[in-house]
Amino acid sequence: MTDDGTQTAAPAAGTAIGAVPVGLAPNGQVREPLLEVSGLKKHFPILGGILRHRVGTVFAVDGVDLTIARGETFSLVGESGCGKTTLGRSLLRLTPPTAGRIVFEGVDVSAMKTADLKPLRQKMQIIFQDPFGSLNPRMPVSDLIGEGLIAQANKENGWKDRKVRDQRVGDTLEAVGLRREYTRRYPHEFSGGQRQRIGIARALALNPDFIVCDEPVSALDVSIRSQILNLLVDLRHEFGLTYLFISHDLSVVEYISDRVAVMYLGKLVEEAKVEDLYSAPKHPYTIALLSAVPQPDPRVKSQRLVLKGDVPSPAAPPSGCRFHTRCWLREQLGNPARCVAEEPQLRALEPASHRVACHFADEVSARTVTSAAEEQARTGAAIAAG
Ligand SMILES: Nc1ncnc2c1ncn2[C@@H]1O[C@H](COP(=O)(O)OP(=O)(O)O)[C@@H](O)[C@H]1O
Ligand code: SF4
Ligand SMILES: [Mg+2]
Repeated sequence: MTDDGTQTAAPAAGTAIGAVPVGLAPNGQVREPLLEVSGLKKHFPILGGILRHRVGTVFAVDGVDLTIARGETFSLVGESGCGKTTLGRSLLRLTPPTAGRIVFEGVDVSAMKTADLKPLRQKMQIIFQDPFGSLNPRMPVSDLIGEGLIAQANKENGWKDRKVRDQRVGDTLEAVGLRREYTRRYPHEFSGGQRQRIGIARALALNPDFIVCDEPVSALDVSIRSQILNLLVDLRHEFGLTYLFISHDLSVVEYISDRVAVMYLGKLVEEAKVEDLYSAPKHPYTIALLSAVPQPDPRVKSQRLVLKGDVPSPAAPPSGCRFHTRCWLREQLGNPARCVAEEPQLRALEPASHRVACHFADEVSARTVTSAAEEQARTGAAIAAG
């Protein structure tokens, strides 16, 4: 039993294929891609006036390239509003992309008509942040999980048949550490952690290959977060799942990921294997985010770099490097014009799997970080910005 009254995850009937190693070749290329994304954009119109004319554009996702290997956990981090959810939803075709290509299991799904998306819906699932909002309070668990099964029922799986469906629902509940007999209960009868387990069961019941986990523990009590994270890790191994794990919390991501991408204002600014990103971050934004993560050992003093101001509006992203309005490295280098004039592209550094979008990533060193932190402390920028 766990703190939230649930059982520990038990093996379920399904297609357990075991853990799949993360497929990065020595040159940093993904060996067995499950998902390949290039030039992905999602822009939302801003409508105004009585006639609801388009008066602007929110560049929520603005040119993202990434590849996710089969069996890995690829995490996406960044401050609120930087486009993480929009990217996740676009990959699943829950929202139609504005531009770009999404290839899933070798098939280009970006241009597929909505009517042809049914098989994709089964293979790609999502777990939402809010286990309260994402579960219909008037539905018992059997229907909450069963409705997805009905939508995907065919002769092979037999999910049209109530008995087969109930069996599948029960098996999935056990897989996420809940009791089979919970099927007749309603969402309000469960704790937050249990509700998130139901959300996970709903995704898992369809036997997917790929799950977008959109801040799955952010709304939960700190005491049960690790239980849900452990469950996700166990399920990934047991069912050979691939995750896109979205979070604004870098400490959560370190524990669960194989690779991590950092997003800022609709673009990826850094991407690396988890151990490389945490031991040797190269983008000034990542370095600042990591400097704010509390150290587990109170004796270790970290150098705090404070990001000045708020994230600019994605409707009017800054020119050149989008991060230039808040960049401590740019200040250290005497505000070079290139940061404002030229947009940096993601480029491979050492090792080749480590990609960074900063013109001056080579200038990042212990010296520049210390000097920036000391200057912030001296000028009181840290205090002013909270
Ligand atoms: N349906 C929508 N219509 C207009 N703007 C949207 C819509 N969904 C998201 N946005 C905007 O896109 C930007 C990115 O949002 P989101 O993807 O939710 O970021 P995150 O998940 O990183 O917090 C935000 O400025 C948000 O207000
Ligand atoms: S390109 Fe310039 S503004 Fe952008 S992160 Fe690098 S130093 Fe900072
Ligand atoms: Mg979000």
